[in-house]
Amino acid sequence: MNFELSEEHKMIRDAAREFAQELKKEVIQRDEKAEFPTEFIKKMGDLGFMGIMTSEKYGGAGMDAQAYVLALEEIAKVDASTAVIMSAHNSLVLWGLEAYGTEEQKQQYLVPLAKGEKLGAFALSEPEAGSDASSQHTTAADMGDHYLLNGTKNWITNGGNADIYLVVAQTHPELGHKGINVLIVEKGMAGFTIGPKENKLGIRSSDTHSLLFTDVVVPKANRIGDDGFGFRFAMKTLDGGRIGIAAQALGIAAGAYDLALAYSKERKTFGQPISAHQAIQFKLADMEVEIEAARLLTYKAAWTKDQGLPYGKEAAMAKLHASEVAMKHTIEAIQIHGGYGYVKEYHVERLMRDAKITQIYEGTSEIQRLVIAREILR
Ligand code: CAA
Ligand code: FAD
Repeated sequence: MNFELSEEHKMIRDAAREFAQELKKEVIQRDEKAEFPTEFIKKMGDLGFMGIMTSEKYGGAGMDAQAYVLALEEIAKVDASTAVIMSAHNSLVLWGLEAYGTEEQKQQYLVPLAKGEKLGAFALSEPEAGSDASSQHTTAADMGDHYLLNGTKNWITNGGNADIYLVVAQTHPELGHKGINVLIVEKGMAGFTIGPKENKLGIRSSDTHSLLFTDVVVPKANRIGDDGFGFRFAMKTLDGGRIGIAAQALGIAAGAYDLALAYSKERKTFGQPISAHQAIQFKLADMEVEIEAARLLTYKAAWTKDQGLPYGKEAAMAKLHASEVAMKHTIEAIQIHGGYGYVKEYHVERLMRDAKITQIYEGTSEIQRLVIAREILR
């Protein structure tokens, strides 16, 4: 067992840490204005972060899941919105395209996505299908050489800014989840419209939209995998996605902790730094322990994936724990800041708002428990 990072992993962590300092400059303004970080996404493309796990052969950086979580953790410490844009793009779009796409699909879609020239989105959720993801109402009717796509998707990250969408839809309702397909849909296809941007509690500078499809003609060549593979594709995709969200949650928690620790040494009450009060020390000690536990679970899930071993349970455990820790300790970080924690300049209130979503998307905490329980009782 080796807990030391390799030189390559340290390099990627440091590069992400340096990049995050640039993100920090206007993170409060982007949050307030709900402004998408377009220039930074371009920069992340140049740094290789937008195709970090994709093979070099397809324009990516060819790194492993461990490198991915290290980079995401550093970015999320400062800007959780930018982290989720990167996570959804890499985990939910590029990974599946490389694992299950045809060579033509990879050349046409994966290469520009991995180079950061185009942005991806993953559209599974619907107004009536969130946790119960297989109850898809969006239909992809088989018309011979193409599908006719109709329906509505909800809450789609990168929804307005993406170029390429992986859309889950039902083709054979009589087959239930075995009748579902995933189609590659391009922005601009006739009949595809994007709903208004959601006005959110947190991760405000990532954009979330509904997507509407009315008789959209999607060539058969844009289906990923065999007919009916779509639901399993989505589940496999989410196994990796949950490692990304675990890393995002870990970063949020660690970012809040760093701020709280520094502040506790500066702020004086009753003639001494608040870090001298045992009540504050115990908060810091609990943060240190629980964030490190979240880190170990997240790194282990990434490691398990990198070993080619089954990693669904590990990913769910990491996501569950890291998101709960992020929520709990961002609240504590505000408490340590006192009144200053309640205003925007000190960053911790934003981190608390950003933490909440990590308990909801890519499967709520309840769904992670369901996945873990099914696995251990199998
Ligand atoms: N890998 C491969 N196959 C899997 C699988 C996995 N991890 N999980 C399930 N399957 C397969 C099963 O083996 C089964 O196949 P067979 O019938 O051929 O054996 C099939 O899928 C159906 O499985 P279940 O009976 O377990 O399905 P279910 O209807 O009970 O649902 C669930 C299971 C885990 C609750 C699933 O619906 C789920 O994950 N829900 C949460 C949805 C979610 O996470 N959405 C996230 C949207 S993306 C997002 O949020 C992005 C973002 O914010 C940035
Ligand atoms: P519901 O499924 O209606 O759940 C409501 C409550 O009931 C939750 O507490 C849930 O845990 C609980 N519950 C449901 N079923 C059970 C059960 N069996 N046992 C115990 N408790 C249960 N989706 C995408 O496809 N792509 C995206 O890019 C994307 N990005 C998102 C970004 C944001 C900002 C948000 C808010 C959501 C995003 N989602 C995305 C959707 C997200 O994955 C869903 O919101 C999530 O899976 C929960 O679904 P729901 O909102 O329909 O809640």
